[in-house]
Amino acid sequence: MDLEKLMSQHLTRAFDGSKTIPDETLHQLLRFLRSAPTSTNIQPNHFYVLASAEAKKQLADNLGERFQDNGSKILNASHTIILTTRADVPDSHLDDVFAKETADGRFPDPEKNAMWQYMTRDFLNLRNYAYKDLNHWMEKQTYMVLGMTMMAAVELGVDATPLEGFDPTSVDKAFKIRETGHTTTVLLALGYPDRAKAYKGPISRFEADRLFTFI
Ligand SMILES: Cc1cc2nc3c(=O)[nH]c(=O)nc-3n(C[C@H](O)[C@H](O)[C@H](O)COP(=O)(O)O)c2cc1C
Repeated sequence: MDLEKLMSQHLTRAFDGSKTIPDETLHQLLRFLRSAPTSTNIQPNHFYVLASAEAKKQLADNLGERFQDNGSKILNASHTIILTTRADVPDSHLDDVFAKETADGRFPDPEKNAMWQYMTRDFLNLRNYAYKDLNHWMEKQTYMVLGMTMMAAVELGVDATPLEGFDPTSVDKAFKIRETGHTTTVLLALGYPDRAKAYKGPISRFEADRLFTFI
């Protein structure tokens, strides 16, 4: 990964609609996405990977009135991922997490396994009843998955642009997402840039002295 190049590059706003991510590259990216960690291993996500022209159009048509501008990005991207997050954590979800961890042999020692499950429940109780931020906390996990996937895409030579410009109610409705117990958090357009339309101006960020405190 060329970090210097990455630092001087704008996020891609115009994709080349004639280019498609090879299957092998896409699968590698999705394998990486699947491996991303989440706090307490809660894994609160489901991902819709839109590849067909019809699916991308369905998303572009349902971004909501004020977000039409993002439509062409989605239509010209090779793929767009809808990153959704659970609306809550029912016991059935926790049961699934624990069953998978046990099946994968995460904690072979039954005592440690039981302790882990106790700590997870305790942490979730804190989020639910003390901090009262369960949804926000889960969406923070989604954003971490988003960031890691963006970096992995760069490594694979794929441009990745996150999109927050959409109406979640409208997208949820179009893809019947709430029916699954999830809601849309953010979108990720993936593909190859249309070089003729790439932003060429300088990157604008605060200076380091405003950002860092060295103690
Ligand atoms: C989480 C996130 C969501 C974003 N959503 C959109 C979006 O919906 N539409 C868009 O055109 N750009 C979107 N952007 C791009 C930012 O506006 C852009 O990265 C920022 O203005 C800095 O510009 P630069 O990448 O050209 O330096 C998003 C960026 C991030 C990190």
